[in-house]
Amino acid sequence: MSRIVYVNGDYLPEEDAKISIFDRGFLMADGVYEVTSVLGGKLIDFDGHAARLARSLAELDMAQPISHEDLLAAHRELVARNDIEEGLVYLQITRGNPGDRDFAFPDPETTPGTVVMFTQSKPGLAASPAAKTGIRVISIPDQRWARRDIKTVQLLYPSMGKMAALAARADDAWFIEDGMVTEGTSNNAYIVKGGKIITRERSSDILHGITRAAVLRYAAEAQMEIEERSFTLAEAQAADEAFVTSATAFVMPVVEIDGAKVGTGTPGPVAARLREIYLEESLKTAI
Ligand code: PDD
Repeated sequence: MSRIVYVNGDYLPEEDAKISIFDRGFLMADGVYEVTSVLGGKLIDFDGHAARLARSLAELDMAQPISHEDLLAAHRELVARNDIEEGLVYLQITRGNPGDRDFAFPDPETTPGTVVMFTQSKPGLAASPAAKTGIRVISIPDQRWARRDIKTVQLLYPSMGKMAALAARADDAWFIEDGMVTEGTSNNAYIVKGGKIITRERSSDILHGITRAAVLRYAAEAQMEIEERSFTLAEAQAADEAFVTSATAFVMPVVEIDGAKVGTGTPGPVAARLREIYLEESLKTAI
């Protein structure tokens, strides 16, 4: 069945949705995006995603072409029209279509940004079997640009990382820079040692995950110990547990890193508890 998608204010069947070949998102990867999960037909942490979107746009000198209210209304409209119970809403904003290719940014007065949204239905997302078994990751060098705090659509290197992982019969890859883990291809990385949750501090080296912020808040509320610092691959392999977080994976245990079992090689209690708390708490504030 064809989805209804959103393009610059219009709701269209996906086969009728069209973007110019001169759109800077297409030619220059000049765009930002957000992924908001949907559980029980409601948006998880919409305000967090909208706030990060505004920051990404500001960091790239891009105008915000849609108000917070309209953005929320469009998300809800798409969830309703596509009957999404569990899944996600993908949003992308690009610097628009200046009518030709040019490295210089176009004048935002004459070239409005392009706004696209679509849904992905993922029944069983919260009850994912992978959360029971855990995932396996490999490590690869972090060869992305240096502003990973901006959620841009430049996802070629993360895609290559995912392919390297699949080729190695693993599920995902963790990026390594200067001997330290930065994050996963599309998630933030954590280890647990002696009951303490360790995850890299926020900087331009990683995306400031919306799920990360929520999970650390819930962990603190549950009196769990948290340390925000970089960790090495060896430290991760010797940890009691490891896990990743993202809007679509929530809290996902990592049971193997470069072929070495983490802890018992099965999902640990801290990751399992955090997943449970995250799903429970984020549903309470879903809109
Ligand atoms: N990815 N780090 C990177 C590099 C990411 O791409 C993502 C999200 C995260 C986690 O951020 P959040 O908790 O706000 O989802 C961390 C999304 C899900 C994606 O690209 O599909």
